[in-house]
Amino acid sequence: MKFDGEVIVIPGATSGLGKNAALRFADAGARVVFGGRRESEGAEVADMIASSGGTARFVVCDVTRSADVARLIETATAEFGELNMAYNVAGVPGDAFSKFADYDDAEWQQTIDINLTGMFYCMKHEIAAMLKDGGGAIVNMSSVAGLGPTPGGAAYVASKHAIVGLTKTAALDYAEDNIRVNAIAPGVVKTEMMEWGITQTPDLEAQMLAHQPIGRLGTMDEVTNAAMWLCSDAASFVTGSTLSVDGAYLLN
Ligand SMILES: NC(=O)c1ccc[n+]([C@@H]2O[C@H](COP(=O)([O-])OP(=O)(O)OC[C@H]3O[C@@H](n4cnc5c(N)ncnc54)[C@H](O)[C@@H]3O)[C@@H](O)[C@H]2O)c1
Repeated sequence: MKFDGEVIVIPGATSGLGKNAALRFADAGARVVFGGRRESEGAEVADMIASSGGTARFVVCDVTRSADVARLIETATAEFGELNMAYNVAGVPGDAFSKFADYDDAEWQQTIDINLTGMFYCMKHEIAAMLKDGGGAIVNMSSVAGLGPTPGGAAYVASKHAIVGLTKTAALDYAEDNIRVNAIAPGVVKTEMMEWGITQTPDLEAQMLAHQPIGRLGTMDEVTNAAMWLCSDAASFVTGSTLSVDGAYLLN
């Protein structure tokens, strides 16, 4: 897929799936404006893109702060004159091992602040910019935990289900403004952190594979491929949908 000269914002691209997407979109010709809280990791990703001939800007941005997100979007429009695409990846797992009666209030609030309120701020500021530029495409990161339950992970499940709802509502609110809004729902993906987890816990991979009908975990490229397709004109009639990218995990 080619995105020559198009401008994309990716809040949360200093590691994992967001970083993979920043590199891939830049490689496909997009001008990438990405955010994250960690300055040195952000600078590293920006250098990687520049050294392979791409165009990127990194902005320190905590998605729980509306003003930070506004600054990220302003950087895109001020530097490159428009905003065509956004991929909202920032998110945290929260506590994934506590049932409701034991779930810590502060842990709940922090996960909701990042995954849900942060998503709202991103969509709000991106849509405002896209309205000025004649439209655009937004892809929101949900999860299989946004389409089904995950025992012990109340805050993550609530936030990822809510993202599916935000996606549908924004798609309807802006259908006539040429702004498409979709979500993706990945299953278990082999990120750097997952690779590290597997080295620490010998049967972790086998446990996860037991729930994977396709017989393997997903790759970061496979998730980015889905986001790229939803951002592209090939998906011009697709809006308000949540695409599972999960090797049939949800059917299991
Ligand atoms: N890895 C998987 O198997 C998987 C599966 C489904 C969904 N997801 C989702 O994909 C997204 C990325 O996860 P990942 O696995 O790449 O993990 P990761 O920890 O490598 O990436 C999370 C990203 O979000 C950013 N982030 C977190 N809090 C932030 C904040 N307050 N402000 C700005 N940025 C913030 C981090 O800096 C990082 O870049 C998450 O939303 C996660 O829920 C991951």
